[in-house]
Amino acid sequence: MIVRGTVRVPGDKSISHRALLLAALARGTSACTGLLTGADVRHTAGILRSLGVSVAPLRAGAVVAVRGTRFKSPRTTLDCGNSGTTARLGLGAIAGHPIRARLTGDASLRRRPMRRVVDPLRSMGARFPNGAEHLPVTIQGGRLQGIAYESPIASAQVKSAILLAALAARVPVTVTEPHLSRDHTERLFVHLGLDLRVAHGVISYQPSPALVSAFDLTVPGDFSSAAFLIGAAVLAEGGELLIEGVGVNPTRTGFLVALERMGGHVDRLNLSAEGGEPVADLLVRPAALTGTEVPAAEVPALIDEIPLLAVLASRARGETVFRDVGELRLKESDRLELVAANLRNVGVAAEARGDDLFVIGTDRPPHGPVDTARDHRLVMAFAVLGTLPGAAVRLSERRSVAISYPGFFRTLQAIGRGARHRD
Ligand code: S3P
Repeated sequence: MIVRGTVRVPGDKSISHRALLLAALARGTSACTGLLTGADVRHTAGILRSLGVSVAPLRAGAVVAVRGTRFKSPRTTLDCGNSGTTARLGLGAIAGHPIRARLTGDASLRRRPMRRVVDPLRSMGARFPNGAEHLPVTIQGGRLQGIAYESPIASAQVKSAILLAALAARVPVTVTEPHLSRDHTERLFVHLGLDLRVAHGVISYQPSPALVSAFDLTVPGDFSSAAFLIGAAVLAEGGELLIEGVGVNPTRTGFLVALERMGGHVDRLNLSAEGGEPVADLLVRPAALTGTEVPAAEVPALIDEIPLLAVLASRARGETVFRDVGELRLKESDRLELVAANLRNVGVAAEARGDDLFVIGTDRPPHGPVDTARDHRLVMAFAVLGTLPGAAVRLSERRSVAISYPGFFRTLQAIGRGARHRD
């Protein structure tokens, strides 16, 4: 394919969840622009409405008004759908209120571990009367105490759950993690004038007597969605692609670091800032790639891009190794096994060995079936592979892109034809 055009991607999923949750905890009516309207963020809006928060309808391009309030016990079980961020950050925000709520999710989310947030929230004083390994989980929030938590895993969802609980309950906390995970919550706290500091890897939050005030926030384009278009443009036979208004927070752009080591090159133009987050236009050109090693320390900043990076590695010269990526087993699907198995299905040598993933590049056009397990990022990664000349990649379904990037296939087609496209 020859790639051409200027496109935009939908709002950042992680920041959209946080904007809604913080607006729900703020005093007054906040205005959020550029929120993702994908299913995951709709679930966060939905659970907030059930907790008594007024959240205007999420429509693409709309300014969404959110009127904050103290949460009340919901009358029904809160459905988090497929969204781990809704469940884990939601538990944190609820923990700081004297209410009882029951949370559940779809079959994929009900398999994912919840103890990672339940343990610290329990130490702060929240109660989980019916066990807490997996959803459905019942939480009884209330008066919490501060905590100094050393997280055993680099997880933005864990530290964010603790910070939201501390904000709602007005208690001080400190959190450390083994490697820095995405820091959107910390940036938003600082942007909203809250007393959050980071020194030598220790995140400290001190409550203030007043509630956080309502705010206006514009959400940048989602780097994780842009990454799939970047991947398609890198694999193209010619042309160039400009993706405007993308969040380039360094805790999210590890994909670019690995891609550049592999021989790809992405120019960052028109750098600006939005809501405490760096934003840029990204100019991408095709490139010949070479395999690389992705060490454990790099993984948190590219965790959601590993399926895509593995697909690109399947087109690179030589071997690519991803070290210590066991967390991939705990995502929307077992991404470690499924990335390897699906690459093999389409004719690529790939293997998960222990917690490492190995991929050996080839020139042979990919042919074969792909089981997406309804995982949005597997669909998009293998759809990118399907843009190669001579490819015949048969995806088991495409609909799950609605989780994070509803217009993905339209935009993927458009960049192959050279359209100006906003999403
Ligand atoms: C997210 C954090 C990451 C990421 C997920 C979104 C967030 O998960 O994989 O897609 O918005 O906080 P972990 O916190 O489990 O690493």
